[in-house]
Amino acid sequence: MSQLKIVGFAGNASRPSRTSALVQAIAGAAQLRTGAYTSLHDLTDVHPSLGATLDPRQAPPDLAALISEITAADALIVGSPVYKGTYTGLFKHLFDLIEPKALKDKPIVLAATGGSERHALVVDHGLRPLFAFFSADILSTGIYATETDFTDYRPSHPQLLRRIERVADELSFKLGVRAPLLAQSA
Ligand SMILES: Cc1cc2nc3c(=O)[nH]c(=O)nc-3n(C[C@H](O)[C@H](O)[C@H](O)COP(=O)(O)O)c2cc1C
Repeated sequence: MSQLKIVGFAGNASRPSRTSALVQAIAGAAQLRTGAYTSLHDLTDVHPSLGATLDPRQAPPDLAALISEITAADALIVGSPVYKGTYTGLFKHLFDLIEPKALKDKPIVLAATGGSERHALVVDHGLRPLFAFFSADILSTGIYATETDFTDYRPSHPQLLRRIERVADELSFKLGVRAPLLAQSA
């Protein structure tokens, strides 16, 4: 069997980024369990191509490569900061450029960060409907975190860390990896 590939994409517009760090932490936990190759990206990797592209057939090479990676991945981990109550505009624009059937049945972890708890439902009211449109296989655990859940841009709150472990377990089960690498080496 070929090596599994997990792609992470974060909709942050600047670095350092809590959203990017959250996606990275989820990918790291999933990688430990599945042995998958992980590849992580954010908006700054495809700036200014993404905002300048209205037709995916005219995507510049960096953007076309990201779209190919996303559509070819065995699983996705996506996250966005909350901007004005929902995911960032360019995060949505990336997925507007992706074919409606391209993410069908693909396991996908949803995550978001915000300035407060006020918009914690963005995962379920914003991200989940977007990926339901694609008929993706959305994992039941979604992750939302705020500034106080991080120390120096790394997830640090024990509840957040536990949730990351939980969703990584769910993803490894979904990918058919029933014997986590961590457990094997313990
Ligand atoms: C333009 C802008 C709009 C924002 N709107 C919201 C918002 O509506 N609700 C919220 O909870 N936080 C909001 N925030 C705060 C960010 O969501 C929060 O700081 C987030 O963790 C930043 O993620 P990052 O470190 O990945 O950039 C906003 C921040 C910016 C820059």
